[in-house]
Amino acid sequence: MAAERTIICASPRPHGACATATREARRLLAVAGEPAPRTFFLHELDVAPCIGCDRCKQLGRCFMRDDMGRVIAALDETDVLCIASPVYFAGPPAGYKALLDRLQPYFWTFERGGARRPAHLLVSGAGGDPHGFDPLVVCTRSALAVAGFRLASVASCIGTGAAGARAAVPRWIGLGNDREGEGSPHDGR
Ligand SMILES: Cc1cc2nc3c(=O)[nH]c(=O)nc-3n(C[C@H](O)[C@H](O)[C@H](O)COP(=O)(O)O)c2cc1C
Repeated sequence: MAAERTIICASPRPHGACATATREARRLLAVAGEPAPRTFFLHELDVAPCIGCDRCKQLGRCFMRDDMGRVIAALDETDVLCIASPVYFAGPPAGYKALLDRLQPYFWTFERGGARRPAHLLVSGAGGDPHGFDPLVVCTRSALAVAGFRLASVASCIGTGAAGARAAVPRWIGLGNDREGEGSPHDGR
């Protein structure tokens, strides 16, 4: 059976490099005869920041009712997660960080030691910044680990623009054979 994919476009911009890559991914998967991935464009979502109240410890879910419920429902059913994110000052953009923080309910419910599903991150950046994007990768890896994913690959599209992000899509979504860092270790929590 074909893998269930979920794609998250984590940019606040509807027509930037990450959105271009996300639309290209959907197109390539359709051409390959793969099922349409569940797709979320962060700029279309209402995801409030975590307020650290810890109510999810008792509830097993967030008390807030917004679009994060749909994201979590998709994550629960997905086999492979693909995220495209810009780098903002080496880290994640605020909206994407809010989404990652809202994975905190999993922190209380996730069975550690279980098998984790693969996740793949495409990073878009303008380039010229000397600080890289390690914080973006580490925040992603840490939050996804509690949600039951291992960050299996990172496709770097720094200074490549939308065309470079589009070119990286086969590798990002696993239609190519040359993913970077497949099987790299992840941080448990
Ligand atoms: C607040 C802010 C901070 C940024 N910081 C970085 C950075 O540290 N490194 C970098 O390469 N690009 C940086 N950029 C540029 C974006 O990462 C780049 O334009 C990216 O391609 C945008 O992705 P998008 O077109 O999918 O929105 C920054 C942009 C903004 C708005």
